[in-house]
Amino acid sequence: MIRDAQDPLGESALHDLVERYFRTSFTTENPIITEAVKRMLSAGGKRLRPRITLLAVQACGGDPASNLHLAAYMELIHVATLIHDDVVDRAATRRGVNATAIDFGNRTSVLAGDYLFAWIFKNVTANYPPPIPQVLATTLAQICDGEVLQLHALGNVTTTFDDYLAIARRKTASLFAAAAECGALVAGGGPEQVAALRGFGEAYGVAFQMLDDLLDITGQSATLGKPVGNDLAEKKMTAPLILALDRGDVAFRGAVRSFFADASVPVERIIEAIGWQGGLEATRDEIARHLVLAKEALQPLPASTAKKELSGLADALLE
Ligand code: IPE
Ligand code: IPE
Ligand code: MG
Ligand code: MG
Repeated sequence: MIRDAQDPLGESALHDLVERYFRTSFTTENPIITEAVKRMLSAGGKRLRPRITLLAVQACGGDPASNLHLAAYMELIHVATLIHDDVVDRAATRRGVNATAIDFGNRTSVLAGDYLFAWIFKNVTANYPPPIPQVLATTLAQICDGEVLQLHALGNVTTTFDDYLAIARRKTASLFAAAAECGALVAGGGPEQVAALRGFGEAYGVAFQMLDDLLDITGQSATLGKPVGNDLAEKKMTAPLILALDRGDVAFRGAVRSFFADASVPVERIIEAIGWQGGLEATRDEIARHLVLAKEALQPLPASTAKKELSGLADALLE
């Protein structure tokens, strides 16, 4: 069992240090961009990606306190993708406040996201050895790839669940995988440990995206801090919709086609039908299946508090 001598601060103290870095030390040379990013950071967010990085460091016997900046960069990559994602998805709220594009406009939001990516890479390449910058650059390419594939599948009722998984792996799971992998790498984890943590991030990330899709149908915007029902409005082929189409009857397929073709078809009819056709239940089953895969991926790691916490993150997702 790895003892936590490397973590005399404890997880919540580490979290506070990352937050303090965001509040007091994060700045760029552009005050408008700094303000837009700081506003996103102070609005909240679950901080899952930096948490996974620090847990991965600990799970490989490293010192999380000396890798706070690396953890912070994971959140900043996420923030930049969210700023862009809300432009692409035409979403008006994020983290309970106006999406960046509402207050700063689409044009500044696109440039702010680009700037933030460049700022992160300038710092990562200056401070971290290979292969960390390469892992992160590959991740960024995968996120954009996933978002573009998703755009091209909008409204396409023949999209398969395998197509969906390929998109979710790229747009969402790749960053969770990189967050875990980079933590393992800076802690000097061996190839087996690095692969184990990457595998955890990949499976967890796919489950995470499926839950996000489910909550877009079943959740409340006040709790989520972002719009619900936006996926159907944007004709996004989400997990519950695809799984309902897989199980559903011809009439349901026809109803989805008409909904996509004609704005006057009420969204409530489609939401109810996704439930009847078993799309919600099938999504929960797929989430559970991927969470089992995530926990299995952790097996090669020695027993530690951090390993237990990673496993606990997986358990917590469906609760
Ligand atoms: C939202 O991520 C984007 C997806 C990958 C679904 P989070 O749900 O982690 O967003 P925050 O960071 O808590 O706001
Ligand atoms: C995840 O997909 C977006 C990114 C990977 C940036 P979504 O579009 O479903 O995320 P939300 O629902 O807007 O947070
Ligand atoms: Mg979105
Ligand atoms: Mg979503």
